[in-house]
Amino acid sequence: MKIAITLGETSARVSEIMIAPDMMERIAEVLPKALGGRSAYWIWDEAVWGLWGEKAAGLGWPMDGGNRVIAFTASEPEKRLASVELLARRMVSAGAGRDSAIIAVGGGVTGDVAGFLASIYMRGIPCFQIPTTLLAQVDSSVGGKTGVDLPEGKNLLGTFHQPRQVYIDPGFLATLPDEELRQGMAEVIKSAMIGDEVLWKFVESSFEAIKGREPNALSRVISASCLLKSRIVQADEKESGARRALNLGHTVGHALEKVTGFRLKHGDCVATGMVVAGELSRRLGKLHAEELDRLVNVCQAWGMPVRIPARIESAAIIEAVKADKKRIGDKLHFILPERIGKVVEFTDIDHGQFVEVLKSLGAG
Ligand SMILES: NC(=O)c1ccc[n+]([C@@H]2O[C@H](COP(=O)([O-])OP(=O)(O)OC[C@H]3O[C@@H](n4cnc5c(N)ncnc54)[C@H](O)[C@@H]3O)[C@@H](O)[C@H]2O)c1
Ligand SMILES: [Zn+2]
Repeated sequence: MKIAITLGETSARVSEIMIAPDMMERIAEVLPKALGGRSAYWIWDEAVWGLWGEKAAGLGWPMDGGNRVIAFTASEPEKRLASVELLARRMVSAGAGRDSAIIAVGGGVTGDVAGFLASIYMRGIPCFQIPTTLLAQVDSSVGGKTGVDLPEGKNLLGTFHQPRQVYIDPGFLATLPDEELRQGMAEVIKSAMIGDEVLWKFVESSFEAIKGREPNALSRVISASCLLKSRIVQADEKESGARRALNLGHTVGHALEKVTGFRLKHGDCVATGMVVAGELSRRLGKLHAEELDRLVNVCQAWGMPVRIPARIESAAIIEAVKADKKRIGDKLHFILPERIGKVVEFTDIDHGQFVEVLKSLGAG
């Protein structure tokens, strides 16, 4: 499947996403054409290089000149400005100029850091993404958000820099640990909840196939998620309206990550956040109880937490929600599911009601 996201009023910018079970094989042919004579500098997640580097070289990926492959020890703590500087210096010493391009190979950390570097390297060079985690394939490689963390919070420095092309091969997921697959599935469930009832039914009925990394099942969930995200990004690239729908489960999700010192994983926190949003919506008379049950059941089947640990205080969650950069003004604002496949934005949620929901789901 090929998805083109057309951006800007003049439609001058296009970001393309290619998803295929044999995408790895096609990169040697597709990428040089897209590079149009630019020299490629590859930023590989070191762990992914260890698992897939040899295969990629064997498939003829245009990684000519060993010094053009730069290994990056990808982990959330390394998603910081110092890493960007280090990678930039390695690019300079390897001879990268304004006529170069960056190809990021790895998960969301690698994509965010490499994308950020591409957006500022010599005032900006093109970026290509080859995402290798499910989370990166369904979420972070699409939409052009790049960035790094500060000790004060995640993604506080960043840019919008659309990748020229994104090459997605579900085959990479063969080596992905189950726990990481689950993090990506939380974003897939989110996409389905936001706007794709057909994807929802597929996810509900295809647990074994997806968990077993069946290429067709994976291609289907990845394609549907990318399509949904692309449509939203095309309508609202810089998140002034429609793109906020993608934050379903993230207001509380981010708060849970923060108050647990990032010991809980992002997708898991988003799953709990979606259940909180679902319960809030049910109490407001929007979401049907039976649909909330379906959300809880799907998340539980994947082993995602659907309750808040009692040691986490509601007050701490509220404080973290208020500090979230995504808030608007002083009111608590949430994306809430209205039904499976449709969300609405609420900007005046009552504090008391929110606390009741947090407590009903286990918070202290
Ligand atoms: N830019 C965006 O729009 C956006 C959206 C969502 C998330 N993000 C960011 O994405 C990051 C999380 O991404 P992630 O979950 O991919 O994390 P990650 O990049 O840290 O990858 C998770 C782990 O999987 C390993 N890995 C990667 N591919 C593998 C493979 N094929 N086989 C085996 N192991 C593999 C990595 O080495 C790492 O240890 C966060 O920093 C988050 O802020 C960005
Ligand atoms: Zn997310």
